[in-house]
Order: sequence, then C-alpha cells, then structure tokens
Amino acid sequence: MYQEYLNRRKKLFAQMAPESATLIFAAAENNKNFDYNFQYRQDKNFFYFTGFNEPQALFILIKRHNNNQCIIFNQKKNTNNKQWFGSNLGQKSALKKLYVNYSYTWNDIENRLYLILNYLHVVYYAIGLNEKYDKIFFLTLEKLRLKSKKNKKFCAPKRILDWRLFVYKMRLIKSKQEIYFIQKACDISILAHIRAIKFCQPKRYEYELVAEIHHEFLRNGCLTNSYNTIVGSGENSCILHYTKNNKKMKNGELVLIDAGCEYCNYTSDITRTIPVNGIFLKEQRIIYHIVLDMLNLALKLFKPNIKIKIINIQVIQLLLSKLKSIGLINGTINQLMHTKIYKKFFMHRLCHWIGLSVHDCEYMPCNDNTILKPGMTLAVEPGIYIPKNNNIPFLYRGIGIRIEENIVITSKGNKIFTQNLIKTPNEIEKLMRKPI
Ligand code: GLY
Ligand code: MN
Ligand code: MN
Repeated sequence: MYQEYLNRRKKLFAQMAPESATLIFAAAENNKNFDYNFQYRQDKNFFYFTGFNEPQALFILIKRHNNNQCIIFNQKKNTNNKQWFGSNLGQKSALKKLYVNYSYTWNDIENRLYLILNYLHVVYYAIGLNEKYDKIFFLTLEKLRLKSKKNKKFCAPKRILDWRLFVYKMRLIKSKQEIYFIQKACDISILAHIRAIKFCQPKRYEYELVAEIHHEFLRNGCLTNSYNTIVGSGENSCILHYTKNNKKMKNGELVLIDAGCEYCNYTSDITRTIPVNGIFLKEQRIIYHIVLDMLNLALKLFKPNIKIKIINIQVIQLLLSKLKSIGLINGTINQLMHTKIYKKFFMHRLCHWIGLSVHDCEYMPCNDNTILKPGMTLAVEPGIYIPKNNNIPFLYRGIGIRIEENIVITSKGNKIFTQNLIKTPNEIEKLMRKPI
C-alpha cells in the first residue's frame, strides 16, 4: 500500500517548481465540550500523501537541488498520555512507517520550519483552511524575512502558491486501490440499505431505520459515515439534507434513505426511496419510474470524453417530457428548458465526484464543461421533489424521490459500484414482503 503514497508524492514533486516546498497540515481536532473532542477525522489531502491518521502533524515535500525529500512533524511518542488515549507513532517509527527522510516533533516547528524553508523560491500552501496553521505559516515566513535583513545566510521564499489545484487534479483520477476501497464502502452500504428496507414498516420512527443502517456499517468495520444519514418520510423526503430523522413513519408515505459509510477513508453515497408499508401508491410509482428512467438514461451516457453538459441536457429533456405527459407542467420542451422550470422539481445537480470526501475534489469543477475521463468516480442522483401547492394535483403533492448510484468511468463506459442494490418498484416490494 505504501507504494501508492510514494507514487502520489512523486507525481506532486514532478509538478513543483525547482527549489520549492509543499506544506500540508493534518486536520486539527475539534472540541465538543470542555475537555472532550469530536471523533477525529483526518484531512483528506494529508491522508492522500501519508496514510497517517494522527492530529498535530505537518507533512512537507521539499525539492531542493533536484533532490526530493519528505519531512514530517508529528506528536512526540506518547505525549498525549498513553494511559488516557493509547499510543501514538512518534518520530522513530514515523521514519519507517511513513517513508519520510526526517521526522521531528510537532513542538519543534517553531525552531525548525524556517530553516527548512530557507532560500527556497516557492512555497505551496493552502491558505485559509485553518487559522492556527495559517498563523504558524505566516510567522515562519516573517521570521525568515526579518533574519534575512540582518544576515545573508537567510532568505525567505518570494512566492506562495496553492497546492490544491495540483492535488485535486491528481485526486480526481482514482487508482485501482482507491476503486477497490470505494467498492468495499458501497458493498457495506448496500447491506445497510437492504437491512433498513426490510425493517421498514408503518409506526416505526425514521431513527429506527438509521439504527439499522449504522448497525450494519459498524459490524462491518466502518466506524464513520460519509455524511449525516438522511431518513426522510412523507414530506421530509423533499428536504434535501434532512437529518432530524425523528418522525414516525406513516402508512401510505414514502421514505427516502440516503446513507453511505466510509471504508478506509473512502466514501459511498447511496439513496433509495421506498414505500413505508411495502406497496407503492399509483402516483408514487409513476414519479418513481420517471426518476428511474432519468437514472437509467444517465447511466447509459456516463462514459469517457463526454461533457457532463450533454448528459444533463438529455436527462432534463426526459424529465420535462415525462412531467408534461402527466400534466404537472405545460409548454414546449424548448420553452421549458429555457425557463428552467425543472428546478422547481429537480433543484440539485445530477452528479458529483466521490472519493476520499463525499463531495470530492471541490476545487475541480463537476459541471457542464467537465469532460469525463477513465478513473473518475461519481455519485449519480436524479430526483423529483414535488412541492405541496394548489397547482399540483392533490395525490402528487409532497412526493420526494431520489435514486442514487455510485460509478467509475471506465475506458468503454462506466461500472456501477452499487449495481447489486435493488431499485425497481417490483424488486423493492418483493424484498419488503420477505420476513426479516
Ligand atoms: N448525501 C449527500 C449527497 O447525496 O450529495
Ligand atoms: Mn446522497
Ligand atoms: Mn450524492
């Protein structure tokens, strides 16, 4: 596995200017209450180059005199009190396990960082991610500037550039190993969805489905979700990021389940919408089939060298013609495209990147002009959310349906990570008839 991290470092070195350094901090801990922190989540960029999951660490790539070196500042062995928090890596093991040339203690940053950056031309740093780390960075540069005024042995870098553009571009194309981790995350999330679908029935609470889902995540070794689990029944199915999950589910309602776990830090992001009592009503089934048709069309179109715009247009044209055919909108397709009326029913994007983060590589656009390439991984998530207003026929009001699949672009088309999770109304009804 470590070869992966070394390959990534090599690729980044190749893009760095001569006489430069890249600085990437680990995520800071977040305080929950007084002396207690939230569960720690590593910064995904830091992880991408190190595979290291401890806080209070700074990873540095240095390109000097055509010689590439890696340095880590990390916590001193057991400074964090082994009795209370268990053991940590320390400096000696960091050299072997993280394949770095030097390992210094976190508390040594002030004394050493300015020397490491001395006489370099360029520093790559992502400003604004963390105030405390920005302060360390700018104080270090200031120290070097002040010293250089008095002593020719010192000179501060003149240019600061952001590493995010390089790094996100790299993260956009996944390796075989990364694709394997995403598949594992999807496989476990599929088990969780099946468990929740089977457990669902009227008079149970939304959070009872959350419990089933998280149970399956945890028993499979996934201690973290990719995002806060969404279980929205009835009108809550129309709230895109609904996370209260505390309503009693009623006979005749739909429930939208959007849940995914992380496996080895890689995410999955799956949505299914099911009838609470196991049988779709006529209007629910009609809308469901429109969303399913949108999804199936999109899945046919996701392939290399196609612009996302082309896919979006075709999927939205399909949506418009179907909504027209059931009388929810009127006008010609051209007019309707122009007025963007579909946004009243489908107000989010059709797709987004997935990977180490659920909305991965936020610096790399996943929009109309993006051209797809093999190795890109995406969530594809058409949906229809029907407002409760008087212009809408009564039985359609408040229906919210989303179906979300995860895919990887291959050389010929795409592979669906979530293929094994049922999604037609008949399959869902059949599964819900089975005893738990
Ligand atoms: N669950 C977040 C999303 O679907 O984008
Ligand atoms: Mn989702
Ligand atoms: Mn999504």
